[in-house]
Amino acid sequence: MGYETWTEERAAHFERMAQAGTGYQEIAAELRIIVPAEARHFRHQVIGDAVLFNADCLSVLPTLGKVDAVVTDPPYGIGAARNAHSNLRMADKAWDDAPVSQAAIDLMVAKSGQQIVWGGNYFGLPPTRGFLVWDKTPMPPSYAFGEFAWTSINMNAAKWSGKVGDLVPVADRAHPTQKPVPLMEWCLGFLPDARTILDPFMGSGTTGVACAKLGRKFIGIEIDPGYFDIACRRIDDAYRQRDMFRDEPKPVKPTQPSLLGDAA
Ligand SMILES: C[S@@+](CC[C@H](N)C(=O)[O-])C[C@H]1O[C@@H](n2cnc3c(N)ncnc32)[C@H](O)[C@@H]1O
Repeated sequence: MGYETWTEERAAHFERMAQAGTGYQEIAAELRIIVPAEARHFRHQVIGDAVLFNADCLSVLPTLGKVDAVVTDPPYGIGAARNAHSNLRMADKAWDDAPVSQAAIDLMVAKSGQQIVWGGNYFGLPPTRGFLVWDKTPMPPSYAFGEFAWTSINMNAAKWSGKVGDLVPVADRAHPTQKPVPLMEWCLGFLPDARTILDPFMGSGTTGVACAKLGRKFIGIEIDPGYFDIACRRIDDAYRQRDMFRDEPKPVKPTQPSLLGDAA
């Protein structure tokens, strides 16, 4: 599997923006947000309107510009990636042995206008009115009946119901704490004006799949190379499925260098 950082499809995308009268500054800004120069040395892939980094978010985040919103699901520190705590029999991993550092939480908040943080009860975040609950019932008694997301949004608290076994069948599960795509689509519905979404702990890329389906730009960061490859595949699949239901764009000669050249 290989992805180009600059493809004919992306060139056609910017050509369409130019034909629609989008200003050069806006095109240049969009290009910069895709892969800022300071971030290009990290392993990354560009897929559709998503850029995915395989690195530690504490290293990548300082190189990124401010995004509209963070929608994420960081490690809670409950050992969910250990076989002893799971019936999924995936590789035994240590990433959930401790919650992520407060430095990482503070950094992602500083880099975004709004935030939705699953497992928000485990981190140092201020009081909020607009929290989200994922009602997982009915579940066997040994599992939690729900999960909590902290949000920065001033709104009424809201609840979403869905059983993980139906939404992410074990046979399709690529990550021990994989969130259902419809749950993340529901989250994006609370951020109607957020064009660019960041997930610094993207795991198997569920937030990115939801963004691909709903036409949002996405920046994902994942430290584990195996999960990163899974996220690339799932987000690529989501774009392919979306494109099947869309008119094929007419082939357009790549014009990005001259667009930016004219702007200089
Ligand atoms: C709770 S999981 C996210 C699962 C995701 N919501 C999904 O649906 O697949 C958290 C992820 O954060 C990753 N992670 C932990 N520390 C990280 C760091 N410093 N930078 C980037 N990713 C990190 C872990 O490898 C793990 O895959």
